Amino acid sequence: MIETKIFKKDQLDDAVELLAKGELVAFPTETVYGLGAIATKEDSVRGVYAAKGRPSDNPLIVTVSDEKMMERYAKEVPERAKKLIKHFWPGPLTILLFVKPNTLPDAVTGGLKTVAFRCPDDSLTHDLIAKLGYPIVGPSANTSTKPSPTTAEHVYHDLKGKIAGIIDGGPTRVGLESTIIDLSVETPIVLRPGEITPEELSEVLGEKVLINTGKVSDKDVPKAPGMKYRHYAPSEPVIVVDDPADFSKINFNEKTGVAALESVLANIDLPDENKFNLGNDLVDADHNLFGSLRYFDDKDNVETIYVQGFDEGEESLAYMNRLNKAAGGHHLNK
Ligand code: TXA
Ligand code: MG
Repeated sequence: MIETKIFKKDQLDDAVELLAKGELVAFPTETVYGLGAIATKEDSVRGVYAAKGRPSDNPLIVTVSDEKMMERYAKEVPERAKKLIKHFWPGPLTILLFVKPNTLPDAVTGGLKTVAFRCPDDSLTHDLIAKLGYPIVGPSANTSTKPSPTTAEHVYHDLKGKIAGIIDGGPTRVGLESTIIDLSVETPIVLRPGEITPEELSEVLGEKVLINTGKVSDKDVPKAPGMKYRHYAPSEPVIVVDDPADFSKINFNEKTGVAALESVLANIDLPDENKFNLGNDLVDADHNLFGSLRYFDDKDNVETIYVQGFDEGEESLAYMNRLNKAAGGHHLNK
């Protein structure tokens, strides 16, 4: 066990020093907290897999401070990538490009020919990487299979004693991980939905953008390897309730937990501690989903968790993608 230090924003230099020494430090982004290690140091990168308990064939995102830093590790930067970067960076968009050979350890790319680049919209993390002078890997800073962390406390809960530090930047803005777009293929394809929608990407690119919906089997070399694993899952079963009217058909008792919008919770007769308020709309729900799953995961008396689903087209793709994974596809009435 090592001591896990919490750094406030005026202690960035201490965090830089730890990373430079090869230690692991968690950092804030606008989506979720990431687990950082200097991306060029193989041993440090391996430490990230160990701390998270992450399967070693699941490659890591490379987090950069700007496009110029990315150019050191990308084989080439196609025109499409330049357009997206100009429009969306810094921001919640991860871009897959071919990796420049021999610039990053295999532990980062999982031995693939591509690498995922991300430039978060967070001034603390921007300054951290710029001061370090090297990119940091940035998987979500949770124990593998658990919901991604949206506060420094979530990170501490999962990784205390296993990592050297956490930079506390407060709760994250978006609450769900970045959109991932693959530009190493002929037609750009979204591998993981996020706040930036396929429609917005298509508009900026001026061309069609595909969406990967296919399930990946374990024996395939998957396009986004992480997507094949069980994910975001509390230890209790999660059930998606697609129509808010259906909450009235559930036999609630002290062993049920409900996460829903405030307006929906108002009609549910349960003690406050069995309810988690997702807020007033879908944007709030994106922000609060992982927190709600963690809340019930830590409550011993709750045995089943019902979570409100949303059917709002592209806007709800990211939310439903995470919720469906947490629920293992289990919906009420489906
Ligand atoms: O918002 C985010 O992207 C957060 C913050 C911390 O930046 N990071 C994050 O990382 O969600 P992670 O590792 O939890 O998810 C990254 C996903 C994984 O499913 C991984 O398999 C995929 O990206 N990925 C990484 N490199 C890849 C590559 N070269 N080819 C295909 N998929 C890749
Ligand atoms: Mg993750």
